Amino acid sequence: VTELLDLDHPTIQGPFGGGLSSVELAAAVSNAGGLGSFDAQPLTPAEVSATVGELRAATRGSFAMNLWVSTHDLAESEMTRERFEVAPPAFPERPGSDFDTQFAAMLEARPPAFSFVFGVPDAAKLDACRDAGIVTIGTAITVAEAVALDDAGVDIIVASGFEAGGHRVAFLDTAEESLVGTIALIPAVVDQVRAPVVAAGGIADQRGIAAALALGAEGVQIGSAFLATDESAAPAAHRTLSRATGQRHTRLTRAFSGRLARGIPNQAMELVDADPALIQPYPYQGHLIAPMRAASIARRDCEGLSLWAG
Ligand SMILES: Cc1cc2nc3c(=O)[nH]c(=O)nc-3n(C[C@H](O)[C@H](O)[C@H](O)COP(=O)(O)O)c2cc1C
Repeated sequence: VTELLDLDHPTIQGPFGGGLSSVELAAAVSNAGGLGSFDAQPLTPAEVSATVGELRAATRGSFAMNLWVSTHDLAESEMTRERFEVAPPAFPERPGSDFDTQFAAMLEARPPAFSFVFGVPDAAKLDACRDAGIVTIGTAITVAEAVALDDAGVDIIVASGFEAGGHRVAFLDTAEESLVGTIALIPAVVDQVRAPVVAAGGIADQRGIAAALALGAEGVQIGSAFLATDESAAPAAHRTLSRATGQRHTRLTRAFSGRLARGIPNQAMELVDADPALIQPYPYQGHLIAPMRAASIARRDCEGLSLWAG
């Protein structure tokens, strides 16, 4: 992993979606000899190139741009719409925020590494990365997904156990059917793939890194511990809660985005989860929740926003 990515340390700062990635954090990690990452999923193509430029200016080290391969879970509602010949309901999608367009902008900007979740890009896209010298990093949460990434020729596989903060990035089965803990997942994946494996989920210090390497991983991806730092773009209340130790716990929910993700329980999570029939498919749920999130951030209140953490 260190050779492929030209790093001093086999440590990846996991990307953060929802606008929580920052150039400052990614560059700080890259400057320290790890791999900083930036999630480009909320960005327009122009913003993708601008961000790669800012990262290049802020670090001489390697860094990764992250994208979500699948950006809609609307199969059932699409079928219904087809039957009645109606257009999908309007919601504020930013132009160019589909995977293909974002990928084209990323490829053009040529970051040292491209990481992705929620699927496997097609062969033409992976070939284009190889030709451009961009190292590809895919995420698997089951052995079957790791094998699919390996068969596609992805350079590095992140195996993410269910302790990890943020979304369960399932792409072969439902997220609920794909829940495996890090300590079981890593050796099982290592045994089945040729690509080097990076362990993610519940790792926050030297002890976790040593354990991951003992299980056969060649590197680690750490999210929550980096999210808690001053350099991250998470709201202050979220960072403070992520630093807290002791009796705090996390759990999985579909309440905030429509996709399963791990975070710190709060009033919004409890209220929405109490009536799961109301939860809309991704990305509609996020748009419905957005005003509550914005109001919560403005009031510096952590009860109305997603507090993703592992
Ligand atoms: C707030 C938050 C947002 C995240 N968003 C993304 C994302 O957009 N893309 C991605 O590949 N991983 C994302 N992750 C996963 C992290 O990159 C990392 O794999 C994970 O946090 C590792 O587990 P840990 O939280 O136990 O350290 C996110 C994690 C958190 C906490």
